[in-house]
Parts: sequence; C-alpha cells; structure tokens
Amino acid sequence: MSEQQINAPGLKRQREIYLGGYRGKKTPIPFTYPELEQAAFRSMQRTAFNYIAAGAGDSSGISQNEAAFKKYSIVPRVLNDVERSDMSASFAGIPLKHPIILSPVGVLSLAHSSADIGVARAAEASHTPMIFSNQASVKMEDAAAQFKATPYWFQLYWSRSDDLVRSFVERAERCGCRGIIVTLDTTMLGWRPLDLGEAYLPFLHGLGLAQYISDPIFNRLVDEAPDEQPKEPITLRAFINVMKLMKRYPGGFISNFKSKRPLKAVRLFTRIYTNPRLNWSDLSKLREYTNLPIFLKGVLAPEDAKKAKETGIDGIIVSNHGGRQVEGAIPPILQLAAIRKSVGQSFPVALDSGVRTGADIFKAINLGADAVCIGRPYVYALALGGQAGVEEYLKNLIADLDLTMKLSGCRSIDEIRATTLKTL
Ligand code: GLV
Repeated sequence: MSEQQINAPGLKRQREIYLGGYRGKKTPIPFTYPELEQAAFRSMQRTAFNYIAAGAGDSSGISQNEAAFKKYSIVPRVLNDVERSDMSASFAGIPLKHPIILSPVGVLSLAHSSADIGVARAAEASHTPMIFSNQASVKMEDAAAQFKATPYWFQLYWSRSDDLVRSFVERAERCGCRGIIVTLDTTMLGWRPLDLGEAYLPFLHGLGLAQYISDPIFNRLVDEAPDEQPKEPITLRAFINVMKLMKRYPGGFISNFKSKRPLKAVRLFTRIYTNPRLNWSDLSKLREYTNLPIFLKGVLAPEDAKKAKETGIDGIIVSNHGGRQVEGAIPPILQLAAIRKSVGQSFPVALDSGVRTGADIFKAINLGADAVCIGRPYVYALALGGQAGVEEYLKNLIADLDLTMKLSGCRSIDEIRATTLKTL
C-alpha cells in the first residue's frame, strides 16, 4: 500500500521538503511562527503589517495566547501501530478532512492582491474550510465561487442597520455559506497602539468594504445619506487620500469625483459598522432572517457558552480575537475545558486565538474543541506567496498535526480526545 493510500500527509510533506533541499530547492514559507511573522514584516508595507499584527493595549495578549498552550504537555504512547490514521473531524455536523478552519480576517488585500480569492483557492485545494470576513476585500459571492466541495461560512459584524444585517445574511445563504458566525467581541474596535501609532485605519481608505459596496441595502443607505461638507480644512494628505479613494471605489474616477459617493459610503460605514447595543435578545432577529445555523464567536465565559446553547444557538467559537480586543483577556485555550463541560459533549465548539502548531491543535482537541481556527499565520503566508503561500503553509500545518498525532500514539481525533494531557 502506498503512503498516499495509508494517508500520511506528514511523511509525504517531509519527503517533499527534504528531497527538494537535496535538489537545491528550499520552500519559501518559514516553518516557525516568529520567522513567518518576521518575513511578512519585511515584505509588507508598515501600515498593512501593523493592521494584521496589532494587539490590544500592550499587545501581550498575542504571546499570552501562544504561551497558554505550553501549559499543557502531551504524554506520547508507544507501540500503537500508527501507520494508518485519519484526522477527519466534523463541526456542527459538517464533515471536515482535518480539524483546521481559516478564521475570518478583514482587508486581506493589505497582504496580497489576490486577497480573499487567493485564500479561498488555497482553502479549496487543501480541503480547509474558510470563514468569509464581514470586512473582506472581495465580496462573499466571488469568494464562494472558488469552492467546489469545501464548506465555508460568513462572519457577521452586527451593524446598526438591521436591514443591512438581514441583507448580508440572505446573501450568505444564497451563495452557499453553511452558517453565520456572529462576532461578539468587536462591537467596537479595541485600543490598538500599532494602528494608532500610524494613525491608520484601512476602512477609511475604502479598503475592506467589499461586502458593503456590493450590497443593495448599503447602496440604498448611501443614496439616502445627506451630503456633508468637510468640517476641517482639507490638507494635502487628505486630498491625496480622497483621490486614491475615488480611484479605488467602483464606478470610475470622474463619476466618483462628481458624486462624492465613495466619501458618503465611507462615512456611512463608520457610523453603522458595529452596534455596541447588541444583546442576547437581538439574536432572535437573526433566526427570523435566516434558516442557516448561527454560531457565536468571541465567547470566553462558560456562563455565556451555556447561555448560547440555551438560547438555541448552534455552536460557538471560543476566541479573544487573537488578542486584538482586550489586553489581559484570558487565553481561550485556558477556558476550553470549562466551556466544553458547560455545554456538554455534542455542542459544536471551535477554538481560535494563538494556534500555531500541530501540537497546539492536538491540545485544543483534547481539551474539547471540535476544530481550531487559524488567523494571522495564513495572512502572513498570503503576504509572502499569495495563494501558493497559503497552500504551502496549510500543507505544513496539516503535516505537523499528522506527525504529532501519530508520534503521540493516536490514529484519530477520537483517540486524541481520549489521551490525558499533563498540566505544568
Ligand atoms: C476587525 O475584525 C479587526 O480585528 O480589525
């Protein structure tokens, strides 16, 4: 039986890399997260890199998320015949080839011109499900068109306009999304010194607004918005930024310049993009808008997880938004076991924030996750190599997981669940 048939992505990938090296070819995507981040830092524009890398407050949440995984140790078992293994998993009844999902990340055009299309193609090629961002650079219909068999979901920021929420959700349903993932930890942006230091927010430049600009309700709201004169005198920098926006926005420079529509759209966006008033009772509206399953992202407290289940929500993503929202927010991996206990075994739970290695995924599964979500690492890989970069990064992560599970004596996700981690 060949290695392919016995499903050995780890060995296969190792061989590709080592034989490639023998022939003088090294792979371009670094294998460790710090090196990946450093390489992306060198290749991206400062403002673009900062937007992806930013954390809340002193940014310590990012390294704390990573370090929290290291509090758990795997106790490998030996002599278990691990030649045949299977990492297939499932989330909310949807079969997955492996337990890795791409988190929603906004404004991917900051990393690479192929943006969400490059990521979607890499996701399909590696059977990795993707969550389309509310702040995507490419509208959801175009990202969805890249998929054949791999599932995808839509992440929603609940706008101040319920009509817009309804429209986004209906579009997601029409273009084949398998569920709506409502992000709850970002009813306003966190305090992010890296972005504040550059005084740069991509949305003001018309970036990351593809879901809005393509939306009939958003466009109706833009039509209805009053014309506003700038309150401050126009500086040279503001003039240049406005010209770039006019050029970038659909409709053509001359027509945009005359109508000032791009400016109206950006102003409207800043007014309605999130809704700090959001509360548990709003969720019932979403049920009226869609038949799709509804998931909550950003849950960290077992009490909230339990309430989500009692409210009829279909699953949760335990996340602190990659440390971007609240400095000192507890690393999600530390909450996972208690959250799993509070919702029971069958309730869908995914884990996001700080996942970097196969061992991290192993630990998350053991502690109660059905799947994990990956954020910054794939964006850095996109910055370094476009679609091919993301594909390579995912191949490496899948290989790492495959080898980690086998070398720990596990042949399946269930066997990973059944092992016992030691706490340091
Ligand atoms: C928005 O999703 C952000 O984290 O910047």
